[in-house]
Amino acid sequence: MTDRQASEVLLGNWTGHSTVPSHSLYPHQWSWDSAFIAIGLRHLSPRRAQVELESLLGSQWADGRIPHISFSPSVARDAYFPGPDFWQAITRGGIETSGIVQPPVHALAVWLTHQADPVESVRRNFLARVYPKLVAWHTYLREHRDLGGHGLVAIVHPWESGMDNSPAWDEALARVEPAPLDSFTRRDTDHASNADRPTDLDYGRYVQLAATYRDHRYDDARTPFAFALEDPCFNALLIASEHALASIAAELSLDPAPHLSAAAELTKSLSTLFTDGIFRARDLKSGELVAADTISGLVPLLVPELPEATELLGTAQGPRFQLGKVHLVPSYDLTGPAFEPGRYWRGPSWFNTAWLIHRALAALDQPTLAEALRQDFLTLATDTDFAEYVDPYTGQPRGARDFSWTAALALDLSCS
Ligand code: SER
Repeated sequence: MTDRQASEVLLGNWTGHSTVPSHSLYPHQWSWDSAFIAIGLRHLSPRRAQVELESLLGSQWADGRIPHISFSPSVARDAYFPGPDFWQAITRGGIETSGIVQPPVHALAVWLTHQADPVESVRRNFLARVYPKLVAWHTYLREHRDLGGHGLVAIVHPWESGMDNSPAWDEALARVEPAPLDSFTRRDTDHASNADRPTDLDYGRYVQLAATYRDHRYDDARTPFAFALEDPCFNALLIASEHALASIAAELSLDPAPHLSAAAELTKSLSTLFTDGIFRARDLKSGELVAADTISGLVPLLVPELPEATELLGTAQGPRFQLGKVHLVPSYDLTGPAFEPGRYWRGPSWFNTAWLIHRALAALDQPTLAEALRQDFLTLATDTDFAEYVDPYTGQPRGARDFSWTAALALDLSCS
């Protein structure tokens, strides 16, 4: 892999203050994409990585939430569906956004970005300016989204997991009456193959869930959520980010203890999702753990001092995910009934989750597994023109090309 190719993708997708995930499929700023993008961008330009994160935080709501999309006023209003006219959400600063959230990987990205160039970071007062915003973000999640009362954050839409059509959501989604197909027009299938994307039926349900939240003004206390689940990946990233906030607080000569105790409480609660060697989502409607094994259930590997780490690592290497034997880490159980090697989050391997697992393997002192994953990542990223995701068996590219987080994280692994 050449760093030049990855850099060209990132420079091509830069808009002046942030980076689009893909000019065709996702032409605005996405929340967890921006965090992963900054992690790579910091090697090209630490200042630009800071600006990426600061611009995302510029779309934060008064209640602390970071919306999953910050819409660009210079892009046609109907270029992406659902666009600003659907969400009808605008910040006090006049930025149009969506109303749902995405996994909280931001504090981790901020800390890694700071470390890339501490002098520039201090000169720009980067940590001091973003720290209160990150605290408000985590406070929103912990105070408004513990819908089950288990000390875990719940997602209220599949898009909030970032793993939209994961088989883990099938059962919960089946209870949702889909919006009529003629009531909206998908734009994603203009830019990617139908076979690589969620189905129309899934989309009808996504639209219905988002419209209900919107019609209740995104009020978490008043919305009758038809979909509410505790997702292992979302909560594991919150824990990793609480650890990052502790490091940031210490760097600012503030007290890291509240972040460490939040991380410890969340880690304890996360254990209640562990079963059959993996973490599973809890469906708050049924009260049950969902019987679908997905990459989300492996992401807790990166939680420091995770009691279940050894068993979980065994699962990653076992028949369900075949770590080290297939490309990257499949998004869903290779032996599962819903497995589809090319369809978005129902089987394909993604680069952001591979990066998370690589980070976990390095921290767990698994240098051989980590290095094999890193080499596979770097080869595939270039061979596929920085694809959005790949078939775990063949490595064939799926979804978008020149995808920003693939390029960014390749750059990061190339520098590591
Ligand atoms: N990932 C979703 C999409 O495909 C929404 O963020 O558009």
